[in-house]
Amino acid sequence: MSPDALTKEFIGLDTRYRLADGRVTRRRYLDSAASTLALRPAREVADQLLEHYANTHSELHFSARIVQRAYAWAHAQALGFLQADPDRHTAIFAGSGCTASLNRLARALAARRPERDAVVSTLMEHHANDLPHRKHARHIVHAPLNGEPPALGAVDLTALAAVLEQRRGRVNYVAVSAASNVTGIINPVHDIAALAHAHGAWVVVDASQYLAHAPLPLSDTGATDRELDAVVFSGHKLYAPGSPGVLVARRNLLADQEPDELGGGMVDDVHLKGYLVTDRFPDREEAGTPNIVGAVQLGAALNILRRIGMARVHAAEQARLREFVAELSAQPGVRLYGDTDLDRTPRLGTVAFNLDGLEHGLTATALNDYHNIAVRNGCFCAHPYVRELLKPELWALELDPDAEGAAALLARRQGMVRASFGLHTDRDDLAALLSGIRDLLARPDHYRALYRPDADGGFAHRTFAAPAERYFDAETALDHALSRLSVTQGIL
Ligand SMILES: Cc1ncc(COP(=O)(O)O)c(C=O)c1O
Repeated sequence: MSPDALTKEFIGLDTRYRLADGRVTRRRYLDSAASTLALRPAREVADQLLEHYANTHSELHFSARIVQRAYAWAHAQALGFLQADPDRHTAIFAGSGCTASLNRLARALAARRPERDAVVSTLMEHHANDLPHRKHARHIVHAPLNGEPPALGAVDLTALAAVLEQRRGRVNYVAVSAASNVTGIINPVHDIAALAHAHGAWVVVDASQYLAHAPLPLSDTGATDRELDAVVFSGHKLYAPGSPGVLVARRNLLADQEPDELGGGMVDDVHLKGYLVTDRFPDREEAGTPNIVGAVQLGAALNILRRIGMARVHAAEQARLREFVAELSAQPGVRLYGDTDLDRTPRLGTVAFNLDGLEHGLTATALNDYHNIAVRNGCFCAHPYVRELLKPELWALELDPDAEGAAALLARRQGMVRASFGLHTDRDDLAALLSGIRDLLARPDHYRALYRPDADGGFAHRTFAAPAERYFDAETALDHALSRLSVTQGIL
């Protein structure tokens, strides 16, 4: 299957909004790093499953068996996507994104090896792959990155080796993202695994930004010393909104210790004086009724991506990314973050930037209101990394923190704009963004005059408002759905 065959098969590609200048245009969705749009065929699989919906903990009726089989299939898709060995590894669905699994892992791994009381994370992590480790490990070290801000690169392997050496015998695991959610920069996670393993440490990989863009086998060579011990990801970043987060891990990391959550479905027997946790994976780690429909939708999305081939998805995205980065780099007034030499520092289709003369909030708001381009701005739940990337510009402000309005000024300057690609992102989307950027750069004062800065660092349009309920209101949508059911009208 070619990647092109699916580029139009996303729900929400034709969504239209009325802009501040009165035009009604199609939304350009460039915020896939936050959440991806829904892949329609995967959603259709979930809808079909609803015809048979039942609880996976029911056992004998037709529907229960159908649903159990589908749910097991979803687990197999998650394992297969990472080329995991079903005999040694398990896939666990938890929470609504990878945050749930990272909290679970941080607690479980700390309990497993309390004598190893340090965790090494990195300067580029999302808070989800930082704060849970801070909570459960006694010491946390944030490994530095290559290069200098604003052109920082991937994790500095020499520095990482030194950190592991300094704390020899004490590092429980290295927690690292496969790719940054801010710059898309890719970390050499298998090299990091080899380094960590040489020091007796495990490696936990946050692949939530990576997996929709490129292949990630648990081991790149098949050798176990380069194998990732645990990988987490979020289904809502893999074209399956409404699906759970996923943990793929070696079973023996989680076996023989009390799971985080207790309840139905994870015990072999319960007496008034005790209970016996089952040995079965993933059951022992999935207490309660799971998000069956979401998991199957995610399984279908993963299956579709495998049919296309992640190497092809990656190659197609890289071609667009190279063109886009070259054009942005050549555009006066654009400041790009992270090393933009893509040969030296590979990255995925995620680009963070600022425009001269415009704060990140104003840029993102005006791109939305006047160009119908959905991008994200701010610090992207990666405050230490964003602050480090911005260090030269923030220092140049020579801000007096006690001066009046200093906090709001800092909030307006501390952040960037992020454009992130999905499978549906095409040249037209990127050309629209470039044209929007050029328009904003050509008349920053015009745009500034249209907005009023607020105390939180944001910008509010002086005359234009687009109330959300104009486009979607749950109760109106419900009324519409019910109005088709003439039979229910009498009882409403
Ligand atoms: C790299 C990275 N890690 C973790 C998360 C947290 O994911 P979730 O909110 O789905 O739990 C995100 C979400 O943006 C992310 O980009």
